[in-house]
Amino acid sequence: MENLYYIRIDDTINQNTLNYLLTFVSKEKKEQINRYYFNVDKKLSLYADLIVRVIACKTFGLTNKDIDFFKSEYGKPSLNNYLNFHYNVSHTRNAIAVVVSDSQVGVDIEKIREPEFKIVNRFFTQPEIEFIDNTVAESKKRFYIVWTKKEAYIKYIGKGLYIPLNSFNVFDETISKKMQTIVKDNYVISICGINQGCCIEEIQESMIVSMCNQWLVN
Ligand SMILES: CC(C)(COP(=O)(O)OP(=O)(O)OC[C@H]1O[C@@H](n2cnc3c(N)ncnc32)[C@H](O)[C@@H]1OP(=O)(O)O)[C@@H](O)C(=O)NCCC(=O)NCCS
Repeated sequence: MENLYYIRIDDTINQNTLNYLLTFVSKEKKEQINRYYFNVDKKLSLYADLIVRVIACKTFGLTNKDIDFFKSEYGKPSLNNYLNFHYNVSHTRNAIAVVVSDSQVGVDIEKIREPEFKIVNRFFTQPEIEFIDNTVAESKKRFYIVWTKKEAYIKYIGKGLYIPLNSFNVFDETISKKMQTIVKDNYVISICGINQGCCIEEIQESMIVSMCNQWLVN
């Protein structure tokens, strides 16, 4: 069973709120977030972490201090001691996608903007290039459909760019049967690791503090 949480965020930041929310995350995450130059990047990374914490606490009746993340040798994060809880996060300007599942999963979100069609020959396979066909009106959206499917797949496997992007075709049946792509607002979101079909839940940014107060304060 897979659930997708989607949140759009604005560029503004309230320093007191940020400092308060940072108290819920690990020291390493706090350091990572503090290294970001743009406020919006701080929020994207922080909110994604908080959403995973809230869902884990809701799902397992944990308290926030019980939550312990670890990263694989390729950097894929997961929750220590809860082998049936799988998640993956993705962020782009100005939205976050968090997918939670009881089996291996990967997600990617991208905003539809002017694509860099020049990269397709280098990174995409022939069937993917034919699907995009940059002469048709839909090509911008299709570019991001292929892009997010590719990213979701490498995040599902967990090896990131150690898997060459041109070494697999997202329309191969073995891959496409595990894949779901959703176009929402001006974003494309792909999830790899689908068993039953993903439910999408939109979270309002204004709800983050109250969610943390409800689920992460003990
Ligand atoms: C790191 C990578 C896994 C995803 O990076 P990204 O697309 O820049 O970023 P996203 O927002 O989608 O994902 C970042 C999150 O993925 C997770 N992640 C990191 N390494 C991961 C891995 N090996 N496997 C799965 N998830 C991973 C982390 O939770 C990270 O969030 P955090 O930094 O806040 O902790 C890697 O695939 C990458 O660098 N991709 C860019 C490649 C590219 O240029 N593609 C374009 C053509 S398709």
